[in-house]
Amino acid sequence: MWTSAELQRLMQREISRYRLIVVSNRQPYAFRMEEGRLLGEMPPGGLTAAIDPLMRACGGTWIAQSGGDSDRLAMDGDGRIAVPLDSPAYSLRLLNLTEAENDGFYYGFANEGLWPLCHIAYTEPVFDVQHYEAYKSVNRKFANLVLDEIGDEPAIVLAQDYHLALLPRYIRQVRDDVIIGQFWHIPWPNPDTLRICPWQGELLDGMLGNDLLGFHLSSDCQKFLDAVELNLNAEVDAQYGLVDYQEDLTLVRPFPISVDFDILDAEARSAGVLGEMERLAGELGLDRGRILGLGIDRQDYTKGIPHRLRAVERFLEKWPEYRGRLVFLQAGAASRVNIDSYMQLTIDIEATVNRINERFAEGDWQPILHWPTSLPSETFSALRRLASFCAESSLHDGMNLVAKEYVASRVDEDGVLILSAFAGAAQELSSSIIINPYATEQFADAIHQALTMGDDERRFRMRHMRGIVQSNNIYNWAGRIMMNLMQASTPDHARLPAAGVI
Ligand code: F6P
Repeated sequence: MWTSAELQRLMQREISRYRLIVVSNRQPYAFRMEEGRLLGEMPPGGLTAAIDPLMRACGGTWIAQSGGDSDRLAMDGDGRIAVPLDSPAYSLRLLNLTEAENDGFYYGFANEGLWPLCHIAYTEPVFDVQHYEAYKSVNRKFANLVLDEIGDEPAIVLAQDYHLALLPRYIRQVRDDVIIGQFWHIPWPNPDTLRICPWQGELLDGMLGNDLLGFHLSSDCQKFLDAVELNLNAEVDAQYGLVDYQEDLTLVRPFPISVDFDILDAEARSAGVLGEMERLAGELGLDRGRILGLGIDRQDYTKGIPHRLRAVERFLEKWPEYRGRLVFLQAGAASRVNIDSYMQLTIDIEATVNRINERFAEGDWQPILHWPTSLPSETFSALRRLASFCAESSLHDGMNLVAKEYVASRVDEDGVLILSAFAGAAQELSSSIIINPYATEQFADAIHQALTMGDDERRFRMRHMRGIVQSNNIYNWAGRIMMNLMQASTPDHARLPAAGVI
């Protein structure tokens, strides 16, 4: 069983002579002032939640874009912030971008182009040459900051996600000896879809600047290798997940990301969460016999939120005895709000919530509650503990850590997870009720199945899933990446089975 201490030991043994640098667009802590006090808050999203425990365990520097109102106030004279503020474990170095750079790089190429390209959600990608110019120039800025940070020292760089596809090549062009790994947190498209991107060859070339490239699923690795074979003059060994390109080797491997099970488990048992459960049970009417269904998501069109609401509507049509009893709470903050498709999503969700509530509301009961804000982590934990079922209905998702968080929080081994077949997590969490979010009838039946399932079956399924998340935890993910990275960086790694790959 991997733990934070086990990962620390591995890092000490294998990589203590290297500087460890994580680089991502999103910062793990954004700073703001409240009543004269500086607060460092973690933005919503799986990346920061997953990598922060790893950095806490290993130390090093995390380079990211500055986005907090009071980031400047938190920095020391060298532009660094020791985080977390209350118990510093690693160093955060922030890059400032202009609004125009961020519009082209983050909103434009990354989120209007690559995001819909990589997700099957039927939103057309926008590929604009000015966005791409900004993407290239910002990737270069991040690469230069990484190079500045490591100086002449031996270093390991772990690049995160689709915002930084070109960065590995930019670093490699300057420092051939740096060990570079990248984890792609979202799905990878099939080669026919990838052709929509006018710069697919440059993206592939950028990513092959890595020694190790990780995706969540082996099917994503396979699609990436297919795209390399079709587009570049490279030798691909699909069996070993190895690309030989311009005399450099890149290992391509699956690493399903996870959560810090022990921390979530301990938080769910804490006095703070128990108190929060009591408060919420009163507020939501659970102490008066109501039942809670839960959805938690960053508000994104890939998450299938309207589909989920329509399934709740169909459920109430089919089983009227639950009217007045089931409260479905959809929680989670707005995201990428400058992009039209996200604004439209907010309008659609509001309209669907209002329509369903107008249709079914009775007395003080409304079937759907919508809390489109960020909430304290104790509140999320309490909601997960209280919910009879949690529905994660992504139309397409690299992993979906909310599903794993629900499982890790169910210390009572109760609760039912309803999970989309199109989320990476469905491959591990096979004891959930697996649904197709487009199939409203089947989805409504799954809600009924969740609410009528016997105690023994619920416990059996939840216990099984908790065992999986407990062992395939975030330290296991990080440890396997580090072992594979060390293997990938040795000249004779080719053809060896990758370390720790199951
Ligand atoms: O799931 C993909 C992802 O980029 C994560 O890596 C990240 O945590 C989440 O989306 C949030 O995205 P953003 O940084 O755009 O808020």
